[in-house]
Amino acid sequence: MRCDLLVHGARQLLTIASRVGPRRGTEMAELNIIEDGAVAVQGDHLLLVGPTREVLEHAGEGTQLMDASGKVVMPGFVDPHTHLVFAGDRASEFEMRLKGATYLEIMAAGGGIMNTVRATRAASLEELVVQSRERLDRMLAHGTTTAEAKTGYGLDTENELKTLEAIRLLDESHPVDLVPTFLGAHAIPAEYQGRGEEYVHLVVEEMLPRVQNGGYVPHDSPFFCDVFCEEGAFSLEQSRRILKRAKELRMGLKIHADEFTSLGGAALAAELGATSADHLACTPEAEINLLADSGTVAVLLPGTPFGLGEAHYSSARKMIDSGVPVALATDLNPGTCYCEAMPFVMALACRQMGMTPAETIVAATINAAHAIGLGHEVGSLEVGKKADLLVLDVPDYRHLTYRFGTNMVNTIVKAGRVIEQGGI
Ligand code: NIG
Ligand code: FE
Repeated sequence: MRCDLLVHGARQLLTIASRVGPRRGTEMAELNIIEDGAVAVQGDHLLLVGPTREVLEHAGEGTQLMDASGKVVMPGFVDPHTHLVFAGDRASEFEMRLKGATYLEIMAAGGGIMNTVRATRAASLEELVVQSRERLDRMLAHGTTTAEAKTGYGLDTENELKTLEAIRLLDESHPVDLVPTFLGAHAIPAEYQGRGEEYVHLVVEEMLPRVQNGGYVPHDSPFFCDVFCEEGAFSLEQSRRILKRAKELRMGLKIHADEFTSLGGAALAAELGATSADHLACTPEAEINLLADSGTVAVLLPGTPFGLGEAHYSSARKMIDSGVPVALATDLNPGTCYCEAMPFVMALACRQMGMTPAETIVAATINAAHAIGLGHEVGSLEVGKKADLLVLDVPDYRHLTYRFGTNMVNTIVKAGRVIEQGGI
């Protein structure tokens, strides 16, 4: 058995070996740790996973050895909710908020998402790719090896398609694998103010079919449609229309639900069999139970209230205890959460949402992979899965959330390729 790379001697090897589907309830705290563990990699996938004494026997001529003694080895992070592709920034709105303006007030006054839409429309495809690649580099440096990336700052057919093209170019040219999501219904653009129904019509009758027919929906990998179901954005009925159309076009479904107000978006996600429902900061208990029944993954984004300086976080503890599979994501975006680092989000989840360190790791790996339709490929260290792994400069997995504000990722292996920090 030829192997190209062998990582050995890990003090803790977190395999997170998966059950079928995302983990729920008490399984969310099981990391399936091998002490003094090792993995052997062949090409871009994992060939062996086990104790060092067993795996090391398979080292041969030409095998690159990587000593992980004293360190933690785990699967690369999967970030299942990002608005990676945008131009410009909104540092001035951050300051306005610190002085008392709220996010929804700034949005109602023509700022917020529309601010970034103007910058994104003005940017060329190349500029968009260059600006977004810098963020992708930082995501990888902090351990993210697979991520979802949304459109939503184009808000007209041409610029939404330009954003999908940017996602494709980034996916092809960068080690981090990207799963695209069409979020044409992110906001009602300025030119449609007061004509929200007409904009929904455009999304349903023009944008979605163009996305499908333009070859942007891959045959062999996931593609999603998302909607911002919120006061001042899209109503429950409008969200239903858009998502139903997307389902007809065989796209997977996601929804921004209950970020600021509860409109019934979580129940809609359950009704339509959405892959994930995201944010869920003010979801009523009855709707939490609907998510548990449907198996829709709750993608929680504690970086967002933190970024907004708000005190209200999702009830992760209640969701996990009710049997909802929970994942974590950054929500990387210029308005509410300009954060590329999954470990910071996990550190927040422990302190603000009552999750344990082990639960945050499951939420940031295998459950996050299921939230973007890639649970069979990434998110755990199992034979046959993609060789996406991290060597952490910590003696125990709890340090990943116990400590915060510095990068504890020592080495990243992406699809079998070793990426030294700083060597991206
Ligand atoms: O997930 N809520 C909608 N979308 C983003 C914010 C986007 C922005 O403000 O630019 C979010 O928080
Ligand atoms: Fe978002």
